[in-house]
Amino acid sequence: MPSLNTLPTPSLLLNKAALERNITTMHQHMAQLDVALRPHLKTAKSAAIARLATAGQAGGVTVSTLREADYFFTQGFSDLIYAVGIIPAKLDTVAALIQRGADLKLITDNTTAARAVVDYAQSHNLTLKVLIEIDSGAQRAGVLPESEDLLDIGRILHQSPKVDLAGVLTHAGQSYRCNTPAAIRTVAQQERAAIVQAAERLRAAGLPCPIVSAGSTPTAALAEDLSGITEMRPGVFVFYDLDQLAIGACQREDLALSVLASVIGHNRHVGHLILDAGALALSKDLSAQDFRPEVAYGEVCDYLTQAPLAGLYVRSVSQEHGLVPVNDPNWYDCLPVGSKVRILPNHACITAAAYDSYQVLEGSTITAQWDRVNGW
Ligand SMILES: Cc1ncc(COP(=O)(O)O)c(C=O)c1O
Repeated sequence: MPSLNTLPTPSLLLNKAALERNITTMHQHMAQLDVALRPHLKTAKSAAIARLATAGQAGGVTVSTLREADYFFTQGFSDLIYAVGIIPAKLDTVAALIQRGADLKLITDNTTAARAVVDYAQSHNLTLKVLIEIDSGAQRAGVLPESEDLLDIGRILHQSPKVDLAGVLTHAGQSYRCNTPAAIRTVAQQERAAIVQAAERLRAAGLPCPIVSAGSTPTAALAEDLSGITEMRPGVFVFYDLDQLAIGACQREDLALSVLASVIGHNRHVGHLILDAGALALSKDLSAQDFRPEVAYGEVCDYLTQAPLAGLYVRSVSQEHGLVPVNDPNWYDCLPVGSKVRILPNHACITAAAYDSYQVLEGSTITAQWDRVNGW
């Protein structure tokens, strides 16, 4: 195994103790609220992490790409929701997975896709399971819980003998616009009210709605009442990140993911350190900036302990360069060319997407490499 001193940079580091704590905390919280956890694996994209996140749980998982669906099914996860609206062009791939034995469920928020799913299921003599996506306030995708569209889609799906109307699904992405635990709890109530209303309207119309699926990490972590919901789908909770810290969804010690980078130069005439971690290694996500503008592209930390190096942030990036302004020249001695730092990212899901694997850390020792499934 390489060590933190010999690992090539940039590399993606995963603190195993923090990962396990985050997962245990979420398991306990879901158990207290009597709801199943269906972790969204769009963040981790790793079978090793999925096994930890589903241990002792009902076992279902959420995916954001059909490549993830294939990878996780091959790794033994058969109960899957593909939580991105389905289109006809993807149904052959879906069908191949179902024919291999995957219990793969789809989502839609429109009658066009619903009809296409019905036609496909009929013409291929295949049973397809579909949930209706609900907009509980994020204003991204989904029908409104009070809309006629909800019942129209429900009827189209349910009238087909080859399609199972499997339930309703929502993601309260507006929780990311909060910056206090109290505000997140209010969004969690809105999310619950909306998805339960949608489920009740379907049932009142004589339509089945066995799965009532909700969740973002902030709402899952801080919700106090999830009655009427059958499952929650947080994803980034396994790692957390600076955005989650900025909005009040986690604590600093929960931050499990970081990027190991090297100092490749000192630009003394401008006044910054140059790192070999730029836009591709960190991403250009600035989400934590809404509430912590000083963070910019990432917070610079000690490479062994992850203790923040006070006042050091990656303020600008180009493809392979990250620039860290310093106003005390002593930093050039503390961080000579060739030395290493750890960067905490804004958005763990997006940063991790640039890496094929995690370097798993126990203390400051690398004890494993876990693969990831990227792409589409
Ligand atoms: C449909 C859906 N469900 C669940 C999640 C997981 O939420 P989070 O990223 O807050 O963990 C996402 C994230 O984008 C999502 O799109």
